[in-house]
Amino acid sequence: YLNIEDVNTIGKTILVRIDVNSPIDPSSKRILDDNRFRSHKQTFNKLRNSKIAVIAHQSRPGRKDFTTTEQHTKKLSEILQRPVEYVDDIFGTRARQKIQQMEKGDIIFLENVRFYSEEVLQRDPQTQGETILVNKLTPYFDYYIMDAFAAAHRSQPSIVGFPQKIPAISGCLMEKEIQTLEKIKKEFKNTYFVLGGVKIKDSIKVINHLLENKTAEKIYVTGVVANTFIKASGHKIGKPNTDFIKEIADTKQIEKAKKILKKHKNKIEIPKDVAIEENGQRKDIPITKIPQNKMIQDIGIETIADFTEQFKNCQAIVMNGPAGVFEKENFAIGTKELVRTASELNAYTLIGGGHICTAAEDTCPRKAFDHISTGGGALMQFFTNKKLPALQALKTSRKKFMTKQ
Ligand code: 3PG
Repeated sequence: YLNIEDVNTIGKTILVRIDVNSPIDPSSKRILDDNRFRSHKQTFNKLRNSKIAVIAHQSRPGRKDFTTTEQHTKKLSEILQRPVEYVDDIFGTRARQKIQQMEKGDIIFLENVRFYSEEVLQRDPQTQGETILVNKLTPYFDYYIMDAFAAAHRSQPSIVGFPQKIPAISGCLMEKEIQTLEKIKKEFKNTYFVLGGVKIKDSIKVINHLLENKTAEKIYVTGVVANTFIKASGHKIGKPNTDFIKEIADTKQIEKAKKILKKHKNKIEIPKDVAIEENGQRKDIPITKIPQNKMIQDIGIETIADFTEQFKNCQAIVMNGPAGVFEKENFAIGTKELVRTASELNAYTLIGGGHICTAAEDTCPRKAFDHISTGGGALMQFFTNKKLPALQALKTSRKKFMTKQ
């Protein structure tokens, strides 16, 4: 695929897809972490003499952290120390006018692209190339730059659609992530994967792949992913936890987890205990005694001790997704302890995803890890050996448009 040095970007109008999907405080709606913003700095610095329209998403429809990109615009401007203008439109008349009016050095930030309903549909690149979003915007741009490594596993219009219609180039972050991960992957053996967070569907797919392809020596589940496996192993997790699984995924996932457990029992470690809140305090309880009316908020202390002891046997570790409700101090213990232990291991260490990176920043020096990836789901998909749609789209675009240049 092409990178920024391969083309003349001076004075050109460029659509830059970044991923600044960030943890957001549920009450104040403030962005809690600016890691992903900083990771795109080099790409923007290389495009100082271009006219840039930024396109990005925040969360998904229906979630509490599904917001406009107004605050993201301010954050980006702060980090780049350049003016960035928020445009509350994606491809309507207003957005197109703003794009046309840009001068060299200008940056505009378009509205959350997932406000456009087709953006959340995952379809093949050709179909995405024919969407309204792509058709409306492409006439205004010379190039499309893909820098959203963290969303590279999504076959969505703003990721794979534009490269079908205009020359697509890899941004600096995308290039750095792929190069580093390719290198690390070659060295990996006896790898432990620690999977947490709330993206149950994605995680179950990934776990299945990692075990079927024998990529993982062991898998440790935490967070809501663990709750699914605890239920699948025959324990009662209570109504609020089951309802939450139904809300963010579906009960089919519990059946899928059951199948995985049956086939790969010795390869999967599920928590022995979990933490709940009682009278404003953290309380650790065994999985055999989970109350029927309380949300599980973290893995338990015994589990932390058990998992971290076992980590000492691995040669490489990949960690993604928080172990608990990381925003609350009492329930950040699981995430922080797992990350801290990983940082002290004499093994290859790779961590990814917003929450884990924030935890790492709070607890240990950056250089304690071999790589801190901006990707969560994208990082995991990279290890399943399934092709990343964004990368494929860059390659297709090069073949399609290079001959014309
Ligand atoms: C992420 O945070 O993993 C990416 O931004 C992709 O978000 P998604 O899982 O909502 O598609």
